Amino acid sequence: MPRQEGLDDPAHALVFYNPKMSYDRDISALLLRQYLPNRAKVLDLLSGTGSRATRYAVEGNDFEVWANDVQPSAVKLIEKNADLNKVNLKISNEEANDFLTGHRREYFDCIDIDPFGSPGKFTFNAFRALKSNNGLLCLTATDIGSLSGTFQNACYRKYGSVVHKTSFAHELGLRLLITYAMREAAKFNIALEPLFSYHRLHYYRVFLKTVDSRKRTDEKIEQQGFVAECEKCLRQHTRGLYSSALSTCKCGNQLKCSGPIYLGGTYDSDFLKNLTYKHTLFEKINSEAHLPFYYDLHELGKFLNKKNKQKSVIVKAIQANGFHASGTLFSGYGIKTDAPYDVLLKCAF
Ligand SMILES: C[S@@+](CC[C@H](N)C(=O)[O-])C[C@H]1O[C@@H](n2cnc3c(N)ncnc32)[C@H](O)[C@@H]1O
Ligand SMILES: [Zn+2]
Repeated sequence: MPRQEGLDDPAHALVFYNPKMSYDRDISALLLRQYLPNRAKVLDLLSGTGSRATRYAVEGNDFEVWANDVQPSAVKLIEKNADLNKVNLKISNEEANDFLTGHRREYFDCIDIDPFGSPGKFTFNAFRALKSNNGLLCLTATDIGSLSGTFQNACYRKYGSVVHKTSFAHELGLRLLITYAMREAAKFNIALEPLFSYHRLHYYRVFLKTVDSRKRTDEKIEQQGFVAECEKCLRQHTRGLYSSALSTCKCGNQLKCSGPIYLGGTYDSDFLKNLTYKHTLFEKINSEAHLPFYYDLHELGKFLNKKNKQKSVIVKAIQANGFHASGTLFSGYGIKTDAPYDVLLKCAF
């Protein structure tokens, strides 16, 4: 990185640079190197200092990397950054949606959208410039309050779903980001298959593969639905997009449903298993039960006024009852399981 006044403090830097995102740049560089073909065309749409684009050029398989930013001062830094690292980048200084429509037949193998806040207003146009088969869309969202149910109107405005506060808020937020991208892609009959996704610190990050198929698009839409967490007894309920409404919990309480939300897999387990380039995050996420949502032991304990058993003991007990169970990176107190609620409570307390 070239020196920039206030560089370590993103709030004061002339061009935004966040050292905390180097973790994600590691993950992204590894995944792109593993997934994309040699000489793939990669676009860093909102490039800032060009740190991401430069890393993709240095660490990728001979990638052709494009870097764009609307700020002229950012473009100067991208140029310096490329020189310092001795890589060739195709650099441009355009508003992102103008760039995407202007390059709609460029057919990038990968488009990375890493904004401040929501990637929502760039997602639709990205599908005009991305390969419709085996393309890779990478999205960051830092407006996690909107996605996870804290700001409901902002969520509906930006992402078109209703999200209530739940004890699994960040998984809901991450899934909503995927749902939103799937709906935008569906307008082009493009299905999105999640390759990898995760939540960390102040952001959600998703990596989605394109499949040019109306049939597959419909299948992915049918994996959307609704989820409700009973505010009284914490029991969770899900239903498909076209099934009858969830209205009342077994305890008699009225339910508040969140959705539409994608309920299918959020990562490609086989892809992660066979990675040449390892990272503990891939291993940890791939060892989780492949199920939507989780119960928060801390919240359950408060509700029951009891102390839960050790997590590893609970997981083994649920498995001994013939169900899947695991912890989750979303929460240190989380248990993912397909066991009925009563079995979970019996094993946990
Ligand atoms: C979060 S920063 C990018 C950080 C960078 N990807 C990294 O990893 O260091 C977002 C960038 O988007 C640029 N930007 C914001 N709105 C834009 C728009 N409509 N068109 C193009 N660039 C835009 C900003 O100038 C800023 O540099
Ligand atoms: Zn209930």
